[in-house]
Amino acid sequence: MKIVTIVGARPQFIKAATISHAVREADQVEEILVHTGQHYDENMSQLFFDELGVPTPDYNLGIGSASHGEQTGRMLESIEKVLVEEGPDWVIVHGDTNSTLAGALAAAKLSASVAHVEAGLRSFNRRMPEEVNRVLTDHVSDLLFVPTQDAVQNLRREGIGSSKIAEVGDVMYDAVLHYSEKAENTKNVLEKLNLEKKAYVLATVHRAENTDDPGRLTAIFEALMQVAEEIDVVLPLHPRTEKVLRRQSLFKQTDARLCLTDPVGYLSMMLLERHARLVVTDSGGVQKEAYFHRVPCVTIRDETEWVELVEHGWNVITPPTSSNSIRTSIIDRLGTTGDEVDLYGDGTAASQIVDNLVHHH
Ligand code: UD1
Ligand code: UDP
Repeated sequence: MKIVTIVGARPQFIKAATISHAVREADQVEEILVHTGQHYDENMSQLFFDELGVPTPDYNLGIGSASHGEQTGRMLESIEKVLVEEGPDWVIVHGDTNSTLAGALAAAKLSASVAHVEAGLRSFNRRMPEEVNRVLTDHVSDLLFVPTQDAVQNLRREGIGSSKIAEVGDVMYDAVLHYSEKAENTKNVLEKLNLEKKAYVLATVHRAENTDDPGRLTAIFEALMQVAEEIDVVLPLHPRTEKVLRRQSLFKQTDARLCLTDPVGYLSMMLLERHARLVVTDSGGVQKEAYFHRVPCVTIRDETEWVELVEHGWNVITPPTSSNSIRTSIIDRLGTTGDEVDLYGDGTAASQIVDNLVHHH
């Protein structure tokens, strides 16, 4: 059986790594890895292949950054050529980026079978590019691998038949279990950044709705600078956010008061998350990882797809409308915990996915 996996953005390298490992353990399954090139900086792309032991992609389409339409369109054209050349039994797409949608659409137009990993998530906010990508990808997919019961319900409400849906847990949980020991043995990022365990807040900001709205961006960074008067704040900067901060002349001021770093690798990120007192983020993956390490999280967005984290007290949604409300939310959450529950499966999502694909072949 031949699988073509489409990746392109940072979180997809991590998700795909778990399935690539499971493929290598399965009999008679071949995987062709296609990198769209959506993310291309060394520390947004190659670093993950090196650290996670993912083979070099068989194709790198080198699409790079562009507007949504141009980026997705160019991916669609290039992915189609690869799929015609390879003739896969399954095309796997991950998550909700433009690379996800382009991969799913290219496959569906060729009547190739599409499997969507991390299906069924909804923010119910169609202004988010990711929401559009998710809904469209789910509706052209033949097999939908969902991480939660809530995601199953979302798909059922949209009329997707239960025979297409498999609740397998979350591949990002598999990744945490798989790479935990390796992370502990990696060069210690805490020492490098001069951070004490449980004595800092870890923050990430990259979501378009925050970076592209000067009011929200200013509120977030003002709040983080206020918090930094009481506890260290470390923030690995997504290139998108760094560019906006520099454009708005906010970079110098924030750099002086927060511990800003370049994006870090997955293993360092795992250590930063595990030893943080609190996580503040607008990332989907980082919200979940905070919980995997049982660290409380403040999500600076208007909503979340990972509603069970809020229900169980691990996450609190704080719309970034004013620096004061964000600061208060962060300070109030320091030292809190949530319910001791197991969400997101048992760490075998990737092997269940490969079994399912073989079975449906
Ligand atoms: C994308 C995804 C988002 C995901 C995120 C993960 C879409 C619509 N968005 O957002 O869902 O959460 O990836 O990190 O697919 N840039 C660089 N170097 C890089 C990559 C990007 O400098 O290697 C800069 C460019 O200025 C680019 C900007 O970041 O224009 C945004 O990159 P893009 O891939 O379009 O979206 P992300 O914000 O990364
Ligand atoms: N991540 C990382 N280094 C960083 C920031 C994030 O390795 O500097 C990892 C993080 O641990 C998680 C994934 O990247 O596994 C999340 O990606 P991101 O926040 O870019 O996207 P999202 O999950 O919001 O789509």
